Amino acid sequence: MMFTAAVLTVSDRCFRGERPDEAGPAAAEMLREAGYRVTETAVVPDEAEDIQAALIRLADGADTALIVTSGGTGFSPRDVTPEATLAVCLRAAPGIAEAMRQASLAVTPRAMLSRAAAGIRGRSLIVNLPGSPTAVRENLGAVLPALAHGLEMLRGGPADCGAPSQNRRAEEKAE
Ligand code: MTE
Repeated sequence: MMFTAAVLTVSDRCFRGERPDEAGPAAAEMLREAGYRVTETAVVPDEAEDIQAALIRLADGADTALIVTSGGTGFSPRDVTPEATLAVCLRAAPGIAEAMRQASLAVTPRAMLSRAAAGIRGRSLIVNLPGSPTAVRENLGAVLPALAHGLEMLRGGPADCGAPSQNRRAEEKAE
């Protein structure tokens, strides 16, 4: 099943045009390579209101299956992406962020500084990623093989957890 995906870059500097957005395009490229149809990429500042409005629009308005955010997961005072994400989600999906941090800790101890969250709003799954392009690749790469199965369950597809999965190998590799 082909799912739609959107990428939301959360960055004051990218929003003001002071820095090119490299993380968003990196996430979009990985999603396309994994078979997703990327329907939108957008940039918002590190403002809870803007982040929430964009997530609601992409989830409720555009019915996007997977919404990936990049940036705003650290400790600086303006990093509010996880809070804004969970504020618009009725259900949390903590295992996704746990898996990202576990995989990333093998690369850098600073992985523990990402407060990234993941959750479900209606028929949409929202996943936070850190802001650097390298961190995007490492974090998204760790969870991408398992996400399609979650989306099938979420969107009422033929999700049989016991069935042999096409992604099995990749899923096992990512474990
Ligand atoms: N995870 C991976 N895999 N690779 C990284 O380079 N950087 C970390 C962390 N997670 C990193 C990572 C750092 S330095 C920070 S501060 C946090 O993600 C939060 O990043 P953000 O504030 O850009 O969201």
